Order: sequence, then C-alpha cells, then structure tokens
Amino acid sequence: MLTDAQLLDAAAQFGTPLYVYDASELDAALSRVQTAFHDARIFYAMKANPNLSLLRRWHTAGVGFECVSLGEIARAIKVGASGHDLLVNGPAKSGEEYRLGFDLGATFIVDRASELELLPPHSKALVRVNPGLDVSTHDHLATGAAISKFGVPMGGVPAVVSALRTAGHDLRGLHVHIGSAIENPDDFTAAFARLSELRPLVGGLEVLDVGGGWGQGADLSGIAAQARHAAAVFGAALWVEPGRALVASAGTLLSQVVGLKSTGRDFVLLDAGMTELLRPMLYGAEHPVRALWTRGGTQVCDLAGPACESGDVLARDVRLPTPLRGDVVALQGAGAYGAAMSSNYLTRPRPAEVLWDGEWRVVRRRESVEEIWAGEE
Ligand code: LLP
Repeated sequence: MLTDAQLLDAAAQFGTPLYVYDASELDAALSRVQTAFHDARIFYAMKANPNLSLLRRWHTAGVGFECVSLGEIARAIKVGASGHDLLVNGPAKSGEEYRLGFDLGATFIVDRASELELLPPHSKALVRVNPGLDVSTHDHLATGAAISKFGVPMGGVPAVVSALRTAGHDLRGLHVHIGSAIENPDDFTAAFARLSELRPLVGGLEVLDVGGGWGQGADLSGIAAQARHAAAVFGAALWVEPGRALVASAGTLLSQVVGLKSTGRDFVLLDAGMTELLRPMLYGAEHPVRALWTRGGTQVCDLAGPACESGDVLARDVRLPTPLRGDVVALQGAGAYGAAMSSNYLTRPRPAEVLWDGEWRVVRRRESVEEIWAGEE
C-alpha cells in the first residue's frame, strides 16, 4: 500500500483531484485472480478502467479484453490485442462493432435472438444467458434478474443456440454475468446451477464464460470452484471477465479540503465530487476514507464535492482528525469505475492519473478546459 508520504508527494507534484494507482497492487490483484481461476482464460472488462498503460500491462501478462463499444475495441487494438484476445459484448451493438469485431476475429457475446440477423456470416459467438435470478447487489448493478435488459431468458437459450449452429456460426458456448460488486457466493452458485440445467438441451460446449462481478471482499477461490464445476458439466474451457477485482484496490482518489461548513450537518468541502467519482451518488457506494494528516481532536462529517447538486456527497458520517483547508483525503478502492466514469459535467476537466511503479508516471495528464470544448463551435 502506498504510504501517506507517497500520496502527499503525488498530490503536491501533480495537484488534486488526482487518481493514483499502485503498480504492485495491480500485479497482486492479477495474481490473486490467476491463482483462484488458475485454469481459466481471463478477459479484463476494460470498462472498469480503460487507461492504455493498464491495458498494456494486462496484455503483456496474457490477459484478453471484454469490449462493449467501438472505442473499447479501438483501445484493445491500440495495445496490440488480436481477435483471439477479444470479446465483443453489449446489448445494442452497432453495425461498426459487428464489422470490426468480425474482421478482427473476435468472439461476440450474443445478447438476444434477433442478433442472428445482424452477425456477420461465420461469426464466433457465445450466447448470454439471463438466469432470471435476484442478486444481492444494488439494483443498478444487477444484470441477471428476469426484469433486466441483459441476455436471453433461460427458456429461449436452446433455440438461439441451435439457430446459431444452423446458420453456420461458430457457436462456442454460453455466457453469464449476473451483476457487479457481488459479495455473496450463493448468487454465483445459483447462477451456475441454472446454466447446468441447460446441458441436456444444448449439448457439450467449447467455452463457458462466467463473466465477472466479484465484489472486493468476495471469496474468489470459492467462486472459482463453482465455476470450474459448471464448466466441467459442459466439458467446456472456463473463461472469466473480471473488471473490479483486477483494478479497484490499486486506485485511490486524492482530493484537497477546500473548506468547512455546517448547515443541518457538518460538511468538509472537497475539490473532488460526483464528476470525479460518481459511484457514491449512483450506487450508494462507500469508499474508505483515509485522512493524510494528523491533528488533535476528531470530527464526524460528510465529504461533499463542488457540484451544485445536493447528491454530490462522496462519503457520509466519516470520523476524521480535525480537518483544515489544504488537507488531503484519500478515497480508497477507487481504481475501478472511478476515473472511467468521471465526467465533464460543469465543464470540469477530468483529473490526472498517475502510477507508482518505483517512481511516479503520469498515465493520463489532467484535461484542460480547452480540450473539453474543442469540438464545439
Ligand atoms: N462482464 C460483463 C458482461 C459486464 O457487464 C461487466 C460489468 C463485467 C464483466 C465486469 O464486472 P466486474 O467484475 O467489474 O464487477 N459502474 C459500476 C459497475 C458496472 C459493471 C458493468 N458490467 C460500478 O461502478 O460499480
């Protein structure tokens, strides 16, 4: 873990708000996943953090990519990935995504029956199964429920599989991804059990892709054992698509205290908020807060951002050593879906991102206001 002194040094050198990544923790996360899922192929869900330096690191380590947009496919190409390394996924793929994915030789994750008419001839395909299960995560993060927009409902899977085969596509297997930030292993057990029910209806398969979704505290080896068992039912190779598990713990958002204020509650006002880290507002996510100062006395407060929105609060009821303007806080576990979901709302430039790998390396420079309006008249 990066020390307080290292984090303060980064804030002083590069300014705040700032995303900081620890290379040794990135490598440790990959090795945790590789150890648990030792016989599986790993495709990184780059939506979690698509920074090119990170993608290069994973590509060099033999990790493939799950891509859900033309831009993500372009990133994969940019770091040298080939079709063998690519999954093209998404509930509403564009014509260009089909064309480019096919030209590269990527494997498509088919999300609905009517994609059959859209896939280029002889495409490689997995069929995404909607297992129709309630999952213990935030509603916005659950993707395997019967009412979710994702996947083919269980009853429709055999027909889609056989239609793909009949149409001459290379139907490689099935796919499931039930949601994100899931801590309860029973959710995965239930989903994999539903997949196994399809074995008599679809036959043996080359691949079973069980997605990602593992919360930061999830028992990876337990989930892996279940996944391996499900793959064996089909005689299939196991594929996985972790996002968060590979990057969350390595990333920290540094933000400076701009001032203090009390209304009906006590606020510490920060120079980062929903535009830099949307997760607390969108999912009620709780990122551990670390104060990078010591001072006599403590205070319980809410950490609020600069946006003119009441929901722009990064953390509530946090006990901190008495804060003063200029102090720096670290919001931890922010390596996944932090920088990736930052926005230019309020014409706020996206923060710089730096990587500690024995020395600081800027992996994304701070955006300028001019870059934000560059495409405008
Ligand atoms: N595979 C598929 C098909 C996915 O849709 C996702 C995430 C993943 C893999 C990776 O899931 P992970 O291992 O990272 O949980 N913005 C939200 C997370 C949305 C995840 C969307 N799909 C957040 O900040 O928590």
